[in-house]
Order: sequence, then structure tokens, then C-alpha cells
Amino acid sequence: ESTVTSRKGSQAPTPPQSVKGIGKKVAKPDYSESKIVLAMVGLPARGKSYLSNKLMIYLKWLEYDVKVFNVGQLRRTRARQKAQQSGIKEDHSASFFSHDNPEATLSRDRLAEDSLEMLIKWLKDGGNVGIHDATNSSRSRRAKLEARVAKEPSMMLIFLESICDDPAVIAANVALKVSSGDPDYKDTSPEEAKADFLRRIHEYEKVYETITEPHLSYLRITNVGREVTVSRINGYLSSRIAFYLMNLHLKPRSIFFSRHGESQYNVEGKIGGDSLLSPHGMQYAKALPVLIKDNIGDQPLTVWTSTLRRTIQTADDLSYTKLTWKSLDELDAGVCDGMTYEEIEQAYPDDFANRDEDKFNYRYRGGESYRDVVVRLEPVIMELERQENILIIGHQAILRCLYAYFHYLPQEDLPYIKIPLHTVIKLTPKAYGCDEERYALPITAVDTHRAKPKAAQPVIQPTTARQYFTSEDAPT
Ligand code: F6P
Repeated sequence: ESTVTSRKGSQAPTPPQSVKGIGKKVAKPDYSESKIVLAMVGLPARGKSYLSNKLMIYLKWLEYDVKVFNVGQLRRTRARQKAQQSGIKEDHSASFFSHDNPEATLSRDRLAEDSLEMLIKWLKDGGNVGIHDATNSSRSRRAKLEARVAKEPSMMLIFLESICDDPAVIAANVALKVSSGDPDYKDTSPEEAKADFLRRIHEYEKVYETITEPHLSYLRITNVGREVTVSRINGYLSSRIAFYLMNLHLKPRSIFFSRHGESQYNVEGKIGGDSLLSPHGMQYAKALPVLIKDNIGDQPLTVWTSTLRRTIQTADDLSYTKLTWKSLDELDAGVCDGMTYEEIEQAYPDDFANRDEDKFNYRYRGGESYRDVVVRLEPVIMELERQENILIIGHQAILRCLYAYFHYLPQEDLPYIKIPLHTVIKLTPKAYGCDEERYALPITAVDTHRAKPKAAQPVIQPTTARQYFTSEDAPT
């Protein structure tokens, strides 16, 4: 039975001298040379905002500074301001998007240009990747973008075109637009909203020109997950962006996270090591196959474990394809491996305090920080995007990092995310974010979560986990 909560050293180490700062911070990588203008291209309802946001989350997780400049959002903000100042309410129904409407065309071109100016300024102020989320659907519009970015020698312009001819995906995107409380349609009935949005798409279809300009750097995604064209893409970050987009897909699937069953070290309050499961941990390993089978039925599933014995033992009775990943091994506590938190506090008081002060950045002596772990998990994230149903049997710190990626949680909260023992977390990726279910098996286990000191600091609970986007960021 399970409960479900639904919602969307070999030698003793020499104690270090009390030198402040040692074993403390790891510098953020220097990405200051990376300046990319990524301009979206595509008809409405082709998943441009979805791709922009996925890319933003991935690159931000890797600590690049990324911002989406959504032209639809700017259009609405300006219209609101105008209405407040002059009382004139602009008509943003389908006719506003018609190329037979010169005044509106001029206004839309200006919005795209202003948004680009804001993006360029933001890149100059230190940003790395500015995403111009607009349709940019004609050669002339792309030529204007190109001419403007060419004036900025440090910046590179890449177009990302999303083509979709799968009626089911288009219909789902249209439905999302009209049902998500989209600001364009907040005073309109769903039927009217849908009819108007389809007319808007039609207006764009009349003038849409797919990218054929041979000199442009571009990526073209056809039916996300099916085909990717890569043209004139070079440089580390651009190639990484291309690789990420090549791995994305929209097939329905679930990602399950479970820590290993309770280990002997967990019972003793020790961190790290390579101990085996405790009797309770063994019970969990025995119960896990039924829980997974109940959830997945006869669908295919692949189980990933770390190379540590406690995860492999937990997976023993699962009759699915299994893979072991070194990258999934628990955060390396260096000289503190095998100690209890109390022993660490006594032996290394300054280090202990430093970790409490900035847990994400603190790197154990001879070991790792959460930041280091995020970097080593990048190939895991890439593979997770590519795969379908996956169960990861991992460790507390590792699963926190992966969880933070899927729920887009900030670095400072990441090391305190609650990932209890004997609990399966099921994530179901949706257009914007992930649905989550937790299955806590009623098998006793110790609590290994060490709360953030300084009372009253909020700890991220699954039910309060932040949503990805505000309604204004919703798909346009
Ligand atoms: O206590 C279990 C454990 O997996 C340790 O092996 C690891 O060092 C620790 O959790 C990570 O959690 P925290 O970062 O909160 O110390």
C-alpha cells in the first residue's frame, strides 16, 4: 500500500586551520564572452515559447544568464499603458496581425525592434543568451534583425525555426492558448478566442517564409523530436544549444525518482560511503517493484542507478533494463566522507559553518559542492530529455539537483529540497512544467534531511514548489 500526494579517508584527516574562505566558495563559471541573440521563427502555436522556455531553463541550470524577450508580452504591456493614459483600447484581434493592415504592421515591426533593442542592451549589461520570442516569419524581418545585430561585433545571431505540421500538436497548442487564461483572450469566450486565434494563424500563414537564406546561422526543428536541421552553427555554446534541442521530444512519459532504500550509514547518521541497505532498506527494495508496476503497467521502463551498492541493491528486484551511471554517485564529501554531521562540526567547525551559510557553493575539502554536482549531471539531464520512461534510483543530493531542473527551483533552495527515503516521486512533463505525484511507502526510515539553520528559513516542500511561469510568461 502506498500514500499518494498529488499536485500539479583512510588516514584521519588533519583538521584544517581556521582560515576563512577555504573550503568555501566555488567561483561561478566565467561566461562573459558568450553573447547570443537567439531569434525564434515560426507561426503562432508552433511551440516557440515552449522551446524558448525549455532552453532557458536548461541554460540557466548550467548558470548561463538567459532571458526571454517575448514580443507578445511587450505588445500587451504597451497596450495596457496606452489604455491607461489615453483611454484608447487597441484592437488586438486577428485583423491586427493582418499584413493588409499597414498601421498594425508598422506597430508590430516597431514592437519587434524595441524588444530586440532591450535584448541587446541586456546582453551588453552581462547577459549571455537573449531569446527573441516572436514570429520573425518573413525574410525582411529577419534581414532587419541581422542588420541590427551585425552592428554588435561581440554578438552572434542564431535563428531557431519551429515548424509543426502535426494537427494534434497544433490543436493542443491552440487549446492551451485559449484555455490558459491568456491575456489576449481574457474577456473572450473560449469559442470566440479559438476562432480569432485560428484567424490570426491564417494571417501569418499568408506571408510566412521558412528560412532559406543560405548565409544565416539557424536551427530548424520540425515536429519537435523528429527532425532538426543545423546550418552554420559553430562555437561551444551554440553547438550545445543545438544538441539540447536535438534531444527534446514531446512524447508523453514519466520520470520516477527514488532514493536507495535506507542504508546502514543512514541509520548511523553517517554521510557518503558505500554501505549496504539496512533491514528497512531491504524491505523497501522488495516493495518497489509492485509500486512501479502499478504505475507503469506494461510500458517500457529503464532503471538508472549510481555505481554505489545501495542503489544497485535497491534495484535488484526490478525486472527492467538497468544502467549504472558514475555521474549519479552521491555528492563526494571528501575528507568528511563517513562522518556524522556532529563529527564534521567538531572536526571542521569553520567548514561546517561555511556550508550552512552557502550550501550550494560550499565544496567539501577533497570533495564536491552542489554546484560541482550540477555540472557533472549535465549529461544525465541531456539523456533524460532524450529518453522516455525512466526510473532513477539515486541519492539525496543528486535527486535534489535533478528535481530542481525539472521544477525550475533556484540554487539557494536546491540543497534543502525534501527528498525523503522510501518515497517515489513521479514527474510527468507537461507543456509548461511538470506534474508531480509522491508515493510514500509505509516502511520506516530515518530522516536524513538537515534543515537550514537560522530558524524560520523556508524549506521547499513539494506542494509549495514554485511554478515555472507567471501567466504573463505563458505561451503566446
Ligand atoms: O545522508 C545521506 C546523504 O546522501 C549523504 O551521503 C550526503 O552527503 C548527504 O545525504 C547530502 O545531503 P546534504 O547536502 O543535505 O548534507
